[in-house]
Amino acid sequence: MTDLTTLLEVGGPVAAIGGGAAYARAKHPGVYWSTVGLPISTARLLSSYGSVMEACGLTVAPSRLRMLAVKATTRREVRPVPPRRGIIRPTSTGLRLRLRLAPGQEPADVAASAERLRHAWGVHAVYVSTVKPGVVELRLVGFDVLHRVRMPRKIDVGLLSVPVALREDATPFVRDYRTVPHQLTLGATLSGKSMYLRHLIAGLASQPVALVGIDCKRGVELAPFAPRLSALATDPEQAAELLPVLVKEMEDRYDLIKARQGIAPDTPAEEITSDVWGLPDSERPVPLVLFVDEVAELFLVATRKDEERRDEMVTQLIRLAQLGRAAGIYLEVCGQRFGAELGKGATMLRAQLTGRVCHRVNDEASAKMALGDIAPEAVTAACAIAPERPGLAVAGDTSGGWSRIRTPYLSLGDAAETCRESAHLVPDLPALKPFRPDVPVRPVETPGPAVRPRLVTD
Ligand SMILES: Nc1ncnc2c1ncn2[C@@H]1O[C@H](COP(=O)(O)OP(=O)(O)OP(=O)(O)O)[C@@H](O)[C@H]1O
Ligand SMILES: [Mg+2]
Repeated sequence: MTDLTTLLEVGGPVAAIGGGAAYARAKHPGVYWSTVGLPISTARLLSSYGSVMEACGLTVAPSRLRMLAVKATTRREVRPVPPRRGIIRPTSTGLRLRLRLAPGQEPADVAASAERLRHAWGVHAVYVSTVKPGVVELRLVGFDVLHRVRMPRKIDVGLLSVPVALREDATPFVRDYRTVPHQLTLGATLSGKSMYLRHLIAGLASQPVALVGIDCKRGVELAPFAPRLSALATDPEQAAELLPVLVKEMEDRYDLIKARQGIAPDTPAEEITSDVWGLPDSERPVPLVLFVDEVAELFLVATRKDEERRDEMVTQLIRLAQLGRAAGIYLEVCGQRFGAELGKGATMLRAQLTGRVCHRVNDEASAKMALGDIAPEAVTAACAIAPERPGLAVAGDTSGGWSRIRTPYLSLGDAAETCRESAHLVPDLPALKPFRPDVPVRPVETPGPAVRPRLVTD
C-alpha cells in the first residue's frame, strides 16, 4: 500500500510535468523553449562544445607555444583547439553565440557544419553569419518560428520601412523602400501575395506616404483600404488613365529638384543625380508607393485596339521603375507569373524590380522568373513550399542573398480598420484627386423608432 502511495506521490507530479511539457512544446513552443528547451540546449552546448567541434572538423592543431605550455603545466594529452567561443546570449526564440575562427578557417566551414551542430545541440536550426573578419555568429533557433508567426515586439524602423514578415532565423524581414525601391512579388493563386501587400499597406498607412493602388481584380483586394488610398484603379482602362498622371507627377518632381539645384529646366531628367531626399523638408514632395496587384492583367490584351494602350502602360511602368526612386516614387508589383511570354517590356520591367519575393509556385519556370537571376538554390527552395503554409516565401535581392520568410496572419478587417483610422493622413496631391476612390460609408446603426407607429383606425 505504501509502495503504491509513494508511486502515486512521485509518479503523479512527474507525469503531470512531462505532459505539461509535451503540451507546451506542441501548442506554445515559445514558452517551452524559454522554460525547458533553453536550459537543456545550453547545458548540452557547454558540456559538449569541444568534442562537437572536433567531430565536425572545426578544430585546428594547437600552436607550438600552446603545446609547450600544456606539456609544462599538466600531463594531459594536447588536444586540437576549437574556435574560441564568446558568451551565450539567450533570446525568446533561440540563442546566439559568437565564435572567433581559428587561423585557416573561413565562415563557410562553420556554415557547412550547421546541420551537424543542430543535431548535436538539439535545436531546430543553426544559422551562421559573419560579424567581422575572423568572427562569426551562430544563431541557434529553438523551434519552427514560421509555424505560427509572431513578430518581435521591438523593431526599430524609420520612414518607408515596414517589418512585413519573419525570417526563418527569427529576425524580422523589413521592406525598406529607401534601400530597395521596387519589388516584385510572385506566387501561385492562394499563396499569400495579397496578405503580403496587406501588411505593407497597413504598415505604411501610419506614415506620411501617399498610397496608390492598381488592382485589376476589380479592386477586391485593395478597395477595402480605400480610405487611406490617394488613388485606385480597378481595371486596365482606369490604370491607363492613372499611369500617365503618375509619370507627370514624377516629371514635376524632377523639375522641382532641378529648380532647387539651379539647373536649366530643359536638362533631361536622366542627368539629374540628386533626389527628393536632398530637398528641404518644407519643399520635399511626399513619397508615393504604387501597389500593382495581378500585374499580368495590364499586359494581356484581347483585341488589337487594346495593344496600343497596353504598350503605353508598360512603357509608363518601366519609366516609373527607372526614374521613380529619385522622385520618391516606389513600385510594389504582384503577380502569378511575370515572364517574357507577357510580351514586349515584361522582362525589362522585371529587371528594374530589385527586391524579389517568391511565394509558392506551381512550376520551376515561375520561380525562375522571380529568383532565377538571384540564386539557383533560392529557386529550389521556392519550389519546395507546401500549399499548407500560405504566406511562406523566399525573399531575395539582386545582391545574391536570400532567405525563407513568412508573413504573420492579418485579417482583411483589421487591415481595413487601420486604413480607416489613418484616413486623415492621406496627403494632398491635387493631380491624383480625380482617382481618389469613393470611400464606402459605414452603415450607421440607427436605433429603432422611439415611438411605435400606431395603426389608425376609424
Ligand atoms: N501568413 C499567412 N498566415 C496564415 N494564412 C495566410 C497567410 N498568408 C495568406 N494566408 C491565407 O491564405 C489565403 C490566400 O492568401 P492571399 O489571398 O494573400 O493569396 P493570393 O496569393 O493573393 O491569392 P490570389 O492570387 O488568388 O489573389 C487567404 O485565405 C489567407 O488568409
Ligand atoms: Mg491576391
